[in-house]
Amino acid sequence: MKKLVVLTGAGISAESGIKTFREMGGLWEEYDVMEVASPEAWENNPELVMRFYNERRKKLLDAKPNEGHRGLVELEKYFDVQIITQNVDDLHERAGSKNILHLHGELRKARSTFDSNLIYDINGWDLKLGDTCEKGHQLRPHIVWFGEEVPAIAEAAAICESADILVVIGTSLNVYPAAGLLDYAPKNIPVYLIDPNDVNTSNNTITFIKEKAGTGVKKLINLLPNIRN
Ligand code: OAD
Repeated sequence: MKKLVVLTGAGISAESGIKTFREMGGLWEEYDVMEVASPEAWENNPELVMRFYNERRKKLLDAKPNEGHRGLVELEKYFDVQIITQNVDDLHERAGSKNILHLHGELRKARSTFDSNLIYDINGWDLKLGDTCEKGHQLRPHIVWFGEEVPAIAEAAAICESADILVVIGTSLNVYPAAGLLDYAPKNIPVYLIDPNDVNTSNNTITFIKEKAGTGVKKLINLLPNIRN
């Protein structure tokens, strides 16, 4: 089977009612990113950081995977599909995708501020100051904040290097190192980009599918049979 690597961003979850970040009405219009999603924010105002992610988690529990997520599951019939997601939601998992790498962490998990290997599922939506790991240290959201390393980036780059086909869905490609992953894909492979809006990229061999994720993934499925094994 050919290896189909999919890089997803907030746009794939938009039709599930999850807000994107940089569009009009997006999360970073409502909040100052450095006040809720940075190590400095955690240092200065952990209550606000906790509240911000608790609200996101609460909304996520009410959300359901959409046609876009489900279409990627369907593609597993024909391809060895590997998803690399910048999203912290679990909608790819709930749709049933098998191979998912989270670059920016996972909203429904918490980790120890003392030992980053101690990671826990959060039951429900509420993580509190005072909730601790088994060694007695405060838990924090399991999210990669601005200014922090992206631990999974080397693994993601290696996955991109091994791609036969690359698909990019619902990301403005503004945030590095994630946006740089496109450069790791072999030069001669087909690359598709699904987004209802224009996205700037230096890769000039991309086939643009200018649609929302649900419709876009359906179109992609109809395009891909030509290049199946
Ligand atoms: P952005 O908000 O920057 O971009 C969302 C993209 O989704 C835009 O290109 C939209 O045009 C597109 N879009 C909107 N609706 C769509 C739909 N229905 N179907 C498909 N695409 C749609 O979000 P990201 O690129 O994911 O990081 O942002 C990257 C990172 O920046 C996030 O992971 C987050 C954020 O700060 C952290 O919080 C660490």
